[in-house]
Amino acid sequence: MPFNLADLIERRHGENFTLHSQYLNPQLTKVVKTLGFDRFYERGEGCYLYDDEGKRYLDMLSGFGVFALGRSHPVIKDALRQAIDADLPNMAQMDCALLPGLLAEQLVTRSPAQIERVFFCNSGSEAVESAIKFARASTARNRICYHAHAFHGLTTGALALNGSAEFKTGFGALLPGATEIPFGDLEALTRELRRGDVAAVIVEPIQGKGVYELDGERWRALEAATHEAGALLICDEVQTGLGRTGRFYAFEHYGLRPDIITVSKALSGGYVPVAAMLASDRIFRSVFSSMDRAMVQSTTFKGNQLAMVAGLATLSVFDDENVVEHAAAMGDLWRAKLEAVAARHEFLHEVRGRGQMIGVAFGPPSSRAARWRWRAVEAARTAMFSQTLVVPLFQRYSILTQVAADNVNVIKLLPPLIAGESEIDLFVDALDELLGAAERGSGWLMDFGLTMARGALKRTRTSRAKVPS
Ligand SMILES: Cc1ncc(COP(=O)(O)O)c(C=O)c1O
Repeated sequence: MPFNLADLIERRHGENFTLHSQYLNPQLTKVVKTLGFDRFYERGEGCYLYDDEGKRYLDMLSGFGVFALGRSHPVIKDALRQAIDADLPNMAQMDCALLPGLLAEQLVTRSPAQIERVFFCNSGSEAVESAIKFARASTARNRICYHAHAFHGLTTGALALNGSAEFKTGFGALLPGATEIPFGDLEALTRELRRGDVAAVIVEPIQGKGVYELDGERWRALEAATHEAGALLICDEVQTGLGRTGRFYAFEHYGLRPDIITVSKALSGGYVPVAAMLASDRIFRSVFSSMDRAMVQSTTFKGNQLAMVAGLATLSVFDDENVVEHAAAMGDLWRAKLEAVAARHEFLHEVRGRGQMIGVAFGPPSSRAARWRWRAVEAARTAMFSQTLVVPLFQRYSILTQVAADNVNVIKLLPPLIAGESEIDLFVDALDELLGAAERGSGWLMDFGLTMARGALKRTRTSRAKVPS
């Protein structure tokens, strides 16, 4: 019988969680169930997911930043259908196909002048691994400096550059020469650079874990110190790149001149994994220095034509629909609306981020009764308050969000870049209502808090759930 996807999905409907707990990561099944996020999604379109009961969910995660154009964008779907129907001569390998060249041209055109060449791969982590190799080869140095709270992926090289110790525990010795710097600490960085053996400093222009930012002056001082020491600046734009923060690259906000850039997520159009590492001709020639070394950095799927088509179609939609400009305008709206909520509710301490990458930070209120409630929730587990909001945001308001990192009271919003005022209003109104309920000590909110606390305590006894983003 020929393969029939619709029939397969219909026959096995409802087995999602059983299959995952039997064959995949059993802890993730538990986490999703504990949070009460277990749904049977059937369809995704634009900023929304739909479950098997036809219920609509506003997606403020966008697959950790993959769905810049929303789900099921018609132009990307059509482009991929065209590619499949054209029976493209995919991955002939001993070949130089047209489409990788075209996508590289597009990316270089959108990058600063010092960026001249592109290496394609499959994931953000792989782009970071490539950046480590290119930086080491081009400087003939070993060490890579990274920031506290940094997230650059979970393969072993990228993991060595992770600024949250919990991710590293249990995996043995990682990349030698990886050195952590407190976020934005110029003195600490200068101390390391003085040793003369730092190949590169890798940064997220806005940190994904916690949505931490630095001002332009501090960024430029860090960059100047890096370059003066002969080290390279790697801007990891896997999450922030392609318009997420209201500029094509987030480093543009601060006037930085990176030597190496990594991108991924949004370039996929939400369909085909793809990533790229971009750098100068000089850096490329340090790796690909002779014909013998033409393959010293490579990966089987590097020129996968479906991925290239997804990337080309994505960038064409960016131009046709002014996606980056829209994200910038929505960033202003997020700020204005959330700051109005902050003025009404003392639990909301700070609004961080830019464009469609927003961190909403909570902290202890000043009034006595509310402060008591804060302490009661936080006593169950650090940063529990934001979890007690994430759960009812989903269950009561059908809005999918996440906490920005373990142990920080920040909800992170990463909606599709195409999300508009109506999506912003759905979230802001729900948050406004929830914070009001938290201040009044409403029973239903406390119930969600208790459910969470019970789940969290159970989890701490087994192992803590880490959700990368
Ligand atoms: C800044 C950054 N770099 C690298 C990665 C790793 O990307 P991937 O999960 O595709 O390996 C991520 C993932 O969230 C990221 O946010």
